[in-house]
Amino acid sequence: MTETRQEVSLGMPQLPAPAYPAEVRARLEADAKEVIARYPGSRSALLPLLHLVQSEEGYVSRTGMAFCAELLGLTTAEVTAVATFYTMYRRKPSGDYQVGVCTNTLCAVMGGDAIFDRLKEHLGVGNDETTEDGKVTLEHIECNAACDFAPVVMVNWEFFDNQTPESATRLVDDLIAGRTVEPTRGAPLCSYKETSRILAGFPDERPGAVEASGGAGPASLIGLRLARGEEPYPRVVAPRGESGHADAPQDPEHPSGPTGEEGE
Ligand code: FES
Repeated sequence: MTETRQEVSLGMPQLPAPAYPAEVRARLEADAKEVIARYPGSRSALLPLLHLVQSEEGYVSRTGMAFCAELLGLTTAEVTAVATFYTMYRRKPSGDYQVGVCTNTLCAVMGGDAIFDRLKEHLGVGNDETTEDGKVTLEHIECNAACDFAPVVMVNWEFFDNQTPESATRLVDDLIAGRTVEPTRGAPLCSYKETSRILAGFPDERPGAVEASGGAGPASLIGLRLARGEEPYPRVVAPRGESGHADAPQDPEHPSGPTGEEGE
């Protein structure tokens, strides 16, 4: 009886992994030792080290995983388990710009699904696929804690808020054409490899980049301003049997006030 063997990929790195060229290895090793020295236990440096190797090749290759395992005294299985758990680590060569469309609940109903469908059609790629010129990798992403600016698109983890199918199409066209694009907030855009190096814990040395990071936007701070009494009270639903806040404005169409809204 002839045995038929099927190749099944479980996402594990095939070993032995090819070595980095000597110059690359020496440079990465010096950087890795600097990162590892920041932690009381070396294995705690695994996440930044994965970003570091990603900054070299644009993704976490099996060479990168073997490098992390060796420097941290871990097994490649342990490194693989972490690298495949977090979605910020790419497992295959990808584009210069990672364009993530939030299709989690709030962004989806606010237009995220429509944006994702438009970009798939416009770029001719599916989820987690890269355009032929190697510029853009499209992916749908989960909530990025920016629901107050929904629907949100992220490029190399920088925010592009309140997007529409049209604005997102212009955005990817500009990226592909090499035109400068400005995130809605935060630091200026840089390449995926440069972003990975910053995430590994190395300083962003571009002039003004750190200052541009800024704070929360107005849509995020509205609750704080309400709490401080800097905004008029909104219409709220009071618990049953209570008439609501004594100072709350009455809605002329619902003179019984907020309590009356509850049964609407
Ligand atoms: S649902 Fe899109 S940022 Fe939260």
